[in-house]
Amino acid sequence: MPTITETATTSPIGRQTPRIDGPFKVSGTAMYASDFNFTGLLFAVPVEATIANGKLQKLDASEAEKMPGVRAIFHRANIGKIFRSVLQPPNSGIADERRPPLADDVIRYYGQYVAIAVADTFEAAKAAADAVRATYTKDKPNVNLDLQPESEPEAVETTHGRLKRLQSERGDPDKAFASAQVKVDQTYVTPAETHNPIELQGTIAMWDGQMLTIYEESQAVFNLRSVLAQMFGLPKENVRVITKFVGSGFGSKLWPWTHCALACAAARQLGKPVKLVLSRRMMFQSVGHRPRTQQRVRLGATNEGKLVSLMQDYLNDLDILGGYHENCGESTSYFYSVPNLRVHWGRTRRNIASPTPMRGPGAVPGLFATESAMNELADQLKIDPVRLRELNEPKIDEGKGIPFSSRHYLECLQRGGERFGWANRNAEVGSMKRDGSILGWGMSGAAWIAGRFPAQASVELRDDGSARVACGTQDIGTGTYTILAQLVSDKTGVPLNKIEVVLGDTSLPPGPISGGSLVTGSIVPAVFDAADNAITSLLTVATTEPGSPFGNRTPDDLAFEAGRVFAKADGLAKGVSVSDLLRRTNMRLVTGSGKSEGTLDEKKPKVSMHSYCCHFVEVTWQPATARLHVNRVVTVIDGGRIINPLAGRNQIEGAVVMGVGMALLEHTIYDPQNGAPINSNLADYLMAVNADAPLMEVHFLDYPDTDVNPLGARGIGEIGLAGVAAAITAATYHATGVRVRELPIRIEDLLTSSILA
Ligand code: MOS
Repeated sequence: MPTITETATTSPIGRQTPRIDGPFKVSGTAMYASDFNFTGLLFAVPVEATIANGKLQKLDASEAEKMPGVRAIFHRANIGKIFRSVLQPPNSGIADERRPPLADDVIRYYGQYVAIAVADTFEAAKAAADAVRATYTKDKPNVNLDLQPESEPEAVETTHGRLKRLQSERGDPDKAFASAQVKVDQTYVTPAETHNPIELQGTIAMWDGQMLTIYEESQAVFNLRSVLAQMFGLPKENVRVITKFVGSGFGSKLWPWTHCALACAAARQLGKPVKLVLSRRMMFQSVGHRPRTQQRVRLGATNEGKLVSLMQDYLNDLDILGGYHENCGESTSYFYSVPNLRVHWGRTRRNIASPTPMRGPGAVPGLFATESAMNELADQLKIDPVRLRELNEPKIDEGKGIPFSSRHYLECLQRGGERFGWANRNAEVGSMKRDGSILGWGMSGAAWIAGRFPAQASVELRDDGSARVACGTQDIGTGTYTILAQLVSDKTGVPLNKIEVVLGDTSLPPGPISGGSLVTGSIVPAVFDAADNAITSLLTVATTEPGSPFGNRTPDDLAFEAGRVFAKADGLAKGVSVSDLLRRTNMRLVTGSGKSEGTLDEKKPKVSMHSYCCHFVEVTWQPATARLHVNRVVTVIDGGRIINPLAGRNQIEGAVVMGVGMALLEHTIYDPQNGAPINSNLADYLMAVNADAPLMEVHFLDYPDTDVNPLGARGIGEIGLAGVAAAITAATYHATGVRVRELPIRIEDLLTSSILA
């Protein structure tokens, strides 16, 4: 009889656990979507519109069709039927671009696909795509990104106009603002940003009669299946989507884009598998971006620093046909206690491709504005910005009038301040120096949604002592493979290295989308339920199947612990292991299915579930060279119970670095003449690299939020980005005296600084 080992009895929950998929990635054996190869595989390259507004007049493919190795040039006349897809909530049937590809001849943004070349090799397809001649009638594109600073978004929507909508309201914010003792009234702007995952987007599509299989790097395989089934008029069961690994997505791979439908249609027309991988340039044009936002924030407060009025009016750009809403007011209504509040939103249509969620959608630009305004208010009041936040800490979610499930924001502030040394701050601008540089200190807070998507999973216990867990969710580089193994190990006692985790496939039990930092929170109850059911099945086997030593018992007489079945009366030491029991009964495995409901669509939630965080930032400012560097960031996260602190810290550090990029570097620039994103490559689109990364300290408070799931795990990732930019601009003001309200901070902005060395 094997003895009970330490590995089998110590739960991996909360332990620093290296990625179980790490060895596959570092050895190059992890198969990303475009790594798959098939006999007869053809290659496709789309033809992109070179105008942003107008009409396709003539498409001449005659030369391209005659080129060597070319199988076909598909366009509107010969691509075959592609249907529109219908949104089927929740989270089913969402397509980023509502219009099916090639549906009409109207060009609405630069890079819109007008045709697709398919050939025996990628090179031949690229040459053919380049040889397709398209002529257009052109209108002037509306890519004018300078929205007028305005108090009220207009009440009507026009093609290039705005739509005013009320998101949240309480009290009488106008009156309270008018009579407030201290006021802030400022407009903040965040630019279009492009996600830039390292793995390019792409599709391999193949048909077997009426069965469609695709390999795609998707953050939501079940949604993609649902969209493709509709676009190609198939029952869902006829479509299979496979996504084994994702080279990150940040939201750009959440919903289907048109290249995927084009690859499927081309494969259908030719009866061969087709691979279509976008170029880096196309990644800037046709697979989403975080839209530009412009937000007016008004804060009214008493001389003591108590908020009396908060108003946020925000606009985001969107494309000509879509309905995307960058929800900048997501955290506004509950983050602070304020009796009078109003959030208005509107949108402005542009000849730019569809925007889409990008890490921390809505809240990230939204909190840049509201947290910046809080920092400005603190400076006006000459109150410490941490103190200002403490003064306005709410007791309940005042937006919904319900209690918080678990909110430890004040403790985040306290812990962060201690670790950073905030008490040593001299609030006077330019007053803190070190080694000839000026130091700037700033801080900010943030919140992000928590909850669950519906999820299902299955767990198998096998006769060799191994386990298998399957769930149709995805690992987008965040650690989902590892978390699933940890959960199963915790429940079954099977060591991590004997757990096979299978995900990223619509043939598995439906799993959540990899969005909203909600996967971990969503899968815990489903996986636990599945493991419990597998164990129940095991106990039944133990009492019914010939060969079992428990044949004279009932399942109620038995218990399961640390990987062993035992009679309660006899104790764990006299139990048998799972593998022993299955071998004696000549069974390969027992299996259990599990399921959990979502929380996000609850009409009347009883508690308000969110994660919280704060960032304390130090910048160094070298006036002689106008060099600004983010030196040090201390981040404290109230993200519920942290299942894997190693993966968790990795998520937050990545997010903080992204925040440095948001504050100082990232900005997609559109050419006003032709509407093209002109910095559409990794040399001209600046992102934070190692040299820009600050020293980072990440702390988790680790309070379980058991309203989310039995472990109290909320899932993290996006929360680490929220607030970083506002803390950096506050630190920049502290160092330079320059208040930057439009991101990214440019050297030109800082040249006006009067702070000299
Ligand atoms: Mo995230 S922007 O919810 O993929």
